[in-house]
Amino acid sequence: MSSKSNNEVLLEVKNLKKYFEINKGFFGRSKEYVQAVDDISFFIRKGETLGLVGESGCGKSTTGRTIIRLYEPTAGEIIYDGVDISELSENDLKPYRKKIQMIFQDPYASLNSRMTVGDIIGESLDIHGIATGAARQERVFDLLNRVGLSKDHASRYPHEFSGGQRQRIGIARALAVDPEFIICDEPISALDVSIQAQVVNMLDDLQKEYGLTYLFIAHDLSMVKHISDRIGVMYLGKLVEVTDRNELYDSPEHPYTQALLSAIPIPDPEVTRNAQRIILEGDVPSPINPPSGCRFRTRCSYAMERCAEEEPVLREVNEGHFVACHLMDEKFPITE
Ligand SMILES: Nc1ncnc2c1ncn2[C@@H]1O[C@H](COP(=O)(O)OP(=O)(O)OP(=O)(O)O)[C@@H](O)[C@H]1O
Ligand code: SF4
Ligand SMILES: [Mg+2]
Repeated sequence: MSSKSNNEVLLEVKNLKKYFEINKGFFGRSKEYVQAVDDISFFIRKGETLGLVGESGCGKSTTGRTIIRLYEPTAGEIIYDGVDISELSENDLKPYRKKIQMIFQDPYASLNSRMTVGDIIGESLDIHGIATGAARQERVFDLLNRVGLSKDHASRYPHEFSGGQRQRIGIARALAVDPEFIICDEPISALDVSIQAQVVNMLDDLQKEYGLTYLFIAHDLSMVKHISDRIGVMYLGKLVEVTDRNELYDSPEHPYTQALLSAIPIPDPEVTRNAQRIILEGDVPSPINPPSGCRFRTRCSYAMERCAEEEPVLREVNEGHFVACHLMDEKFPITE
């Protein structure tokens, strides 16, 4: 959380795009692409957590999976610790496959059901040649212990565990290789509310202990509030706002961020009565054929003619506060 980060940038993503081809242009049809991630840029400092939020299908997982090169980027740069890893060969990527780990959205599907927990965690120790024999076993026991499980769990299979415990196993697997950076893809969304805080607190403790850097993906703003230093908001493949956690909650500038925030229930009934609730109308348009100009315009109550014609660029309107919306031009005029 705040003050845990220093100023050094660990990851910088520049103009990243990931398009999925969905029909190959057979039978005279033209090729079509899902523009899942379309030209996004952001950075993450060493030791900090960047929360990434947005509705289902806006491209959060694709962003994470492209950074870790599970998907090949369509365009753009992924600069990790000063090196552009977007085009590295599988061989040159090897050290990064250890430094960058991912915890997945679905703790049921992401663990191999035929492997024991000990082998699931130990497998990455084998792949990266980190430990064998008794040292490997010792490390697996330590990791289980570190995530609140016990060494007796090593010989059991994933189906014998609850969702929260499986997510702990996924975390132990990610930690096994001493990573620097972990992409947490909705690690708590599938868990009971009562378990969510435990897992978030554990991730927070691990971050402090090992100096980890996180990209923490979630679909609503209530889940990222406590763990994030800064937060990015995505809409239909675009990053629409990025800023410090407190600034985002206190002074959201993008109409979409404002709508997401107003959807979070406020515990104080006085505040709820006075707060203006913004209802997001209509469905999210298709990322195959997104609206022209600003992609949010079909659901934005401030939309003007210009919004259909010109795409708003992500611009720094206040120190460290980036927003992509034409309304900003009047509110924060460009001075140069
Ligand atoms: N392998 C793929 N092939 C084709 N389209 C894909 C593929 N993976 C994702 N998409 C599409 O890309 C878009 C972004 O998907 P993504 O999974 O990144 O969204 P998300 O923000 O993680 O959503 P959720 O909150 O539901 O996890 C969606 O329209 C999705 O259908
Ligand atoms: S650019 Fe226009 S449509 Fe897009 S969020 Fe701003 S006002 Fe709304
Ligand atoms: Mg996802």
